[in-house]
Amino acid sequence: MNIPVFDLKRQYENLKTEIDNAFKSVFEKGIFVLGENVKLFEEEFADYLGAGFAVGVGSGTEALHLSLEACDIGYGDEVITVPNTAVPTISAISFAGAKPVFVDITQDTYTMDLRKVEEKITDKTKAILPVHLYGHSTEMEQIMKLAKAHNLRVIEDACQSHGAKYNNKNAGTIGDMGCFSFYPTKNLGAYGDGGMVVTNNEELYKKLIMLRNYGEVKKFTSKIEGFNSRLDEIQAAVLRVKLRYLDEWTNKRREIATMYHQLLYNSNVQLPCERQWAKHVYHLFVIRVNKRDALKDYLQERGVGTQIHYPIPIHLQEAYKELGHKAGDFPISERNAEEILSLPIYPELTTEEIETVASLITEFQNI
Ligand SMILES: Cc1ncc(COP(=O)(O)O)c(C=O)c1O
Repeated sequence: MNIPVFDLKRQYENLKTEIDNAFKSVFEKGIFVLGENVKLFEEEFADYLGAGFAVGVGSGTEALHLSLEACDIGYGDEVITVPNTAVPTISAISFAGAKPVFVDITQDTYTMDLRKVEEKITDKTKAILPVHLYGHSTEMEQIMKLAKAHNLRVIEDACQSHGAKYNNKNAGTIGDMGCFSFYPTKNLGAYGDGGMVVTNNEELYKKLIMLRNYGEVKKFTSKIEGFNSRLDEIQAAVLRVKLRYLDEWTNKRREIATMYHQLLYNSNVQLPCERQWAKHVYHLFVIRVNKRDALKDYLQERGVGTQIHYPIPIHLQEAYKELGHKAGDFPISERNAEEILSLPIYPELTTEEIETVASLITEFQNI
């Protein structure tokens, strides 16, 4: 048996003709950077989310970094975020020159604990950067209230949450800017790196357009200091094809999650929650379990791949030791890192495979 934790080959097999044609059309046109596919995909993605504007960039990390730059956030500034996220959330903040300030997470949604945000606001705070982790939105209302009261920007890390909802709004469209990743395993994934910033603010949009392309207002005329961070035509052409399937895939992921819930209901595993104001898109299906490492090995030995997202909270990563944190500072994130396990979840997973994963977990717990 072989049930990998991700399997991109299955998706390609299903869409082979459309994907191959998309590649071919770009090669035949001979335009590879900032062509019509990027422009059309930006429009289509903005429409899909109900956002005013979208800017294709090089990756999710770059989406976050350029968003911070667009808000003039840099040296001496503080950005409030969470320690249980992918490292790139924090790389973007430190690359902009700002200091990440951490707030622990809630036990159930694994997203920012809103009760702990206000105490972290200082006169250096410039933004709140919630992470909609695993496909579940952060509770945004309180964040928006705090941001308004303290004149802060809100930059949403929606890299794992394409199409996830907070009340009736799409994750990524509530704050000043929403940042998405098209890393291949994401719910909407490219065949390489890619990212997008969405915003309803025209001024920020215009700045992002310059920032991603050497600060140019027109060719060879740079108005501001910029970068090179562009979504490329090949990725945009593929993503335009895949965007048409995103809702179908999300429904499939939700069905798989329901099956896991039914099959593991009576086990000792803590299953993911979906708060009543959220629509979870199950980028990852993360369980919390005692003897996590033994379960991981047990599944691996029987051909089931799993992963840990993430094994080391950011405040305990060597790269960020200068922030001066120690074990015990963010206990919920730290405990999670010891107990969480991501099970296989992708639209092509079969009923039989889901049943196999669940019965192995039950079997392990009965040993
Ligand atoms: C929560 C989160 N933030 C940021 C990123 C960075 O995205 P990318 O890998 O496209 O740079 C990722 C993806 O890896 C992510 O999962």
